[in-house]
Amino acid sequence: MSTVVENSSVLSALTKKFTEVFGDSKNVEYYFSPGRINLIGEHTDYNGGYVFPASITIGTTGLARLRNDHKVKLYSENFPDLGVIEFDLSDVENKDGGSWSNYVKGMIIALKGAGYSVNHGFELLIKGEIPTASGLSSSASLELLVGVVLDDLFDLHVPRLELVQLGQKTENDFIGINSGILDQFAIGFGEVKHAILLDCNTLKYEMVPVELRDYDIVIMNTNKPRALTESKYNERFSETREALKRMQTKLEIKSLGQLSNESFDANVDLIADETLIKRARHAVYENNRTKIAQKAFVAGDLAKFGQLLNASHKSLKEDYAVTGIELDTLAETAQKQAGVLGARMTGAGFGGCAIALVAHDKVNEFERAVGAEYERVVGYPASFYVAQIGAGARKINI
Ligand code: GLA
Repeated sequence: MSTVVENSSVLSALTKKFTEVFGDSKNVEYYFSPGRINLIGEHTDYNGGYVFPASITIGTTGLARLRNDHKVKLYSENFPDLGVIEFDLSDVENKDGGSWSNYVKGMIIALKGAGYSVNHGFELLIKGEIPTASGLSSSASLELLVGVVLDDLFDLHVPRLELVQLGQKTENDFIGINSGILDQFAIGFGEVKHAILLDCNTLKYEMVPVELRDYDIVIMNTNKPRALTESKYNERFSETREALKRMQTKLEIKSLGQLSNESFDANVDLIADETLIKRARHAVYENNRTKIAQKAFVAGDLAKFGQLLNASHKSLKEDYAVTGIELDTLAETAQKQAGVLGARMTGAGFGGCAIALVAHDKVNEFERAVGAEYERVVGYPASFYVAQIGAGARKINI
């Protein structure tokens, strides 16, 4: 995958498109917001646990400028059939079916709700490189893109953490997914060649240099058509909330992230339901696994880190039940290949992407072998990209 933002010919093509769509390109400004991978710590964010993500160099590019009236005009290179989507600032509460413009409306509402003044119309053209439904956070990428665009156009000076939280609020309140803060945080705070260890309970974080020596992180896309991710995601959210409630009848805890594996095991009977026990066990064990994994990563023990990736996938498969044949085939086939230290699904699951830590000189062979097995089992091809860790959402000064 190429990186739009580092490619000036792509930016000039987008400028040309802007002119074609909006008449000219006077006063246009440029912005970029990445996607993210999560190295480990899956479905822990909304359970008060740790996550360990990194922003990547593929993402969403935006070109924008202010208007003198109250009209918002939007165009996406990914949905040319939708043409220019237009609405009045007074009409932002009105949802547009499943259109991408809802993310723009949601961010305007969130910013205004937080007291910021978005009092003019604007034009925005975007081009997204993150495959949809890939689990690499195309939606949070868009939320933060709109965040940096509005912050800049309206001179709002929104603190970065608040912008991240407003992105999450958009997802929760306007889009209707009970997601945690993982995606928006990774995209808002990402730095080149760094991962972020984030405690979702306190929002304290640490930037961790990504030193992979002779290894690459390979992203493997299942290319599974969009599944019922939203409803299944919200179901997992409710299941872990219910398990927590049952544990709170005896334990003084605010989230599952506060439990050690031992205290969870000692009190598991409080949950009294097989499915809920499995869901909560994943949340607790994955959180503790993430803390150990980060330490191994920092110590340069990539072999141990890889084993923890494998354990994470197993837990997401068996206890959290968010993998499915596509992700299991990718991750489990990857784990068996020469030169692979570990592999797991990344993101919400139910399709989307997995990641693998693969010896640099084995990547081609790896892609061939995993790709062939995936196509044999699933019936259509997977896609592979070597991940580059890039910076977070920002204005591009050209
Ligand atoms: C999605 C959500 C995140 C997080 C992951 C699973 O990406 O948006 O908040 O819960 O799933 O770890």
